[in-house]
Amino acid sequence: MDLNLNGKKALVFGSSQGIGKAVAQSLVAEGATVCLNGRTEEKVKKTCEEIGAHTYVVGDLTESGRGISVTEKAIKELGGIDIIVINTGGPQKNDFLDVTIEQWHTDFQSLWLSAVESLHVALPMMKEQNYGRILFVTSIAAKEPLPGLTTSNGLRAGLQGLTKSIANEYASSGITANLILPGYTNTERIQNLNLSEEKIQEMVPAGRLADPRELGDLATFLASPKAGYITGQSIALDGGVLKSH
Ligand SMILES: NC(=O)c1ccc[n+]([C@@H]2O[C@H](COP(=O)([O-])OP(=O)(O)OC[C@H]3O[C@@H](n4cnc5c(N)ncnc54)[C@H](OP(=O)(O)O)[C@@H]3O)[C@@H](O)[C@H]2O)c1
Repeated sequence: MDLNLNGKKALVFGSSQGIGKAVAQSLVAEGATVCLNGRTEEKVKKTCEEIGAHTYVVGDLTESGRGISVTEKAIKELGGIDIIVINTGGPQKNDFLDVTIEQWHTDFQSLWLSAVESLHVALPMMKEQNYGRILFVTSIAAKEPLPGLTTSNGLRAGLQGLTKSIANEYASSGITANLILPGYTNTERIQNLNLSEEKIQEMVPAGRLADPRELGDLATFLASPKAGYITGQSIALDGGVLKSH
């Protein structure tokens, strides 16, 4: 299937490794012109060269206003914007009473406000050109809280409401907004947890971790013109972990 992504311009946040990198790699393979982002210049530059992305913008999304400046720079480098993939580093683990107010602010800025900032810049352009694809990479925690991931559970559930709201408002302008909810995915982040094969079998009906490339390919389809009638949806890629509808 030709996804008709040739020449489409995409910004993928948090894409020097892991899920973001896999999404960027899949978009590049389908002919999109891609701008990467990460906090560490050395790392994001290396990934840019490795996967053949067009460019990169360094910026830490926990900092107020960074969603705006990264998006503005990316648009300048790309010469426009068709696709935004909102993905960041995961928040810190903590039970409710151990989460400081400062952590709430940091995680809200990183997971939520950086997206709002970015869309304030990009949505008017997408509306003008009557085409846009907005994708949030969140987590199965948005539907079923995971132990100890208090800020992730709370903030990511809220992003579903934001996405529905944007989807509703912009559907008639050729713009879709969807969420991808990864389950346990084989990235550095999860490798650090050292989960045993038995534990994975116990947690995941499919009996294995997701390959980040599976998320990359789903995101790339949703970013394409072929997915123009899918909007406001939360799509889990979790090997059957979520059981409710
Ligand atoms: N892996 C899983 O099993 C899983 C499951 C559910 C949800 N998720 C979520 O999916 C997202 C990606 O996970 P992952 O496993 O791919 O993580 P990862 O391997 O840690 O990669 C995170 C990427 O984001 C960048 N990044 C981190 N913090 C950033 C910040 N403040 N500003 C800008 N870029 C930042 C990192 O680059 P730099 O270090 O250079 O900044 C890196 O490229 C996370 O939000 C995670 O919570 C993951």
